[in-house]
Formats: sequence, C-alpha cells, structure tokens
Amino acid sequence: MVVLQIALLFCVGSSIAEDLFSPNVNIITELEKLKNMEERIQKLEDTLSKVLRENEALKTLLQDSQNKMENFQKDNKVNKVAFSAGLLASGEGNTGPINSDQILIYKKVFSNVGNAYDLNTGIFTAPVKGVYYFRFYGHCHGGTTMAISLQKNGVTQCSVFAYKPTFNANGSNGVVLTLEPGDQMYTKLYSNTWVFDDPGSYTSFSGFLIFPL
Ligand SMILES: *[C@@H]1O[C@H](CO)[C@@H](O)[C@H](O)[C@H]1NC(C)=O
Repeated sequence: MVVLQIALLFCVGSSIAEDLFSPNVNIITELEKLKNMEERIQKLEDTLSKVLRENEALKTLLQDSQNKMENFQKDNKVNKVAFSAGLLASGEGNTGPINSDQILIYKKVFSNVGNAYDLNTGIFTAPVKGVYYFRFYGHCHGGTTMAISLQKNGVTQCSVFAYKPTFNANGSNGVVLTLEPGDQMYTKLYSNTWVFDDPGSYTSFSGFLIFPL
C-alpha cells in the first residue's frame, strides 16, 4: 500500500516536472502574448491622448463659436435702425416763413425702430457706425420760396429749392452716408422760406441703417 502511494506521488511529481520543462508550456508564445498586449496598451494610450487633445481643441472651438454667436446677437439687436415721419401730426398748414433758419420737427412718426429719431427735436442720432440712407420730401404752396437742406452735424449734405412757385412746388433729395456713433442728422428750413403739410404727409423725413461697419 505505502509502495503504491509513493509510486503514485512519483508519477504526479514527474508529470509536473514534465510540464515545466517540456515544450508543452511554450514560454516564447506566452512572452509574445505579453508583448502583443503591451503594444495594444501603448496603442490605446496613444489613441486616448489623441482623443483628449482633440477634445481640448473642440472645447476651444465651441467657446469661440459661442462668443461669435453672442456678438452676432448683440450686433443684430443694435443694428435695427429705421424711422419715417411726416411733418404734421394732424391738421394742415405752413411751417415758416420766419426770419431765421429752423430745424424741421416731424411729428407724425410712422416708425422709429431703435429710437434714434427724436420727435421732440427732429434730430436723428446715429447709434452705431455704419452706412445709412436719408431722404426727405418737401411740398409748398405758391408765393413763397421753399428751401430745405439735409444736415449732418450742422453741415449741408443735399438740398431742395423752389423759388416762389406760382401755385405750389415739390422737392425731394437723399443721400447714402457713412456715420459715426453720435452723428446728428436733421433737415433745416431756411429763413424766410416755408413748407406745407396736411394729413397726406407731403412733407416727410426718413432714414435707416443699410449696414453697420
Ligand atoms: C406737387 O405734388 C402735389 C401732390 O402730389 C401735386 O398736386 C402738385 O401738382 C405738384 N406740384 C407740381 C408743381 O408739380
């Protein structure tokens, strides 16, 4: 019985020894597997750091886009500028003649988007730098001269003139101008001249921002 046990032990022992030293456990293969794994981990690490770098770049790009969008929204708000107004709010009558120049104050406001036109003074104040268009129209009855100029900060830009018409007269002019913020636009009726208006709004003043600069 004891002999058999020893014999069995010997057999088991010899089989372990055989496993370790026989080519059945291929250390070369195992090492190769390890090497492959190392290579794959290296590749994964490379990919991961690439993804992280790309993620940073995307974050920067997203921030830039957000900033641009906010500026665009801000611009879009301030860039809506347009007004149109007739001289008399109601009724009919002449304005002038008096013996000094006067700013025409257009009281019938059709539109005033951006509130750049002041109906108490007749003055439009540019809210942003940009290219603007202004036009005005004047109608007068016969006998007295009509003379109106569009003014930029008090300097004549363009005018209409009708010398003592027999029955009546009409005149219109307009310009495209580059304005700086705060530039003031208005129409001036010259001394000893007149204009007429009634509910038909024959005499009017309009302006709008074409595009900002
Ligand atoms: C000026 O315009 C008014 C209104 O359209 C018109 O009735 C009048 O005949 C015009 N005057 C002249 C001189 O063309």
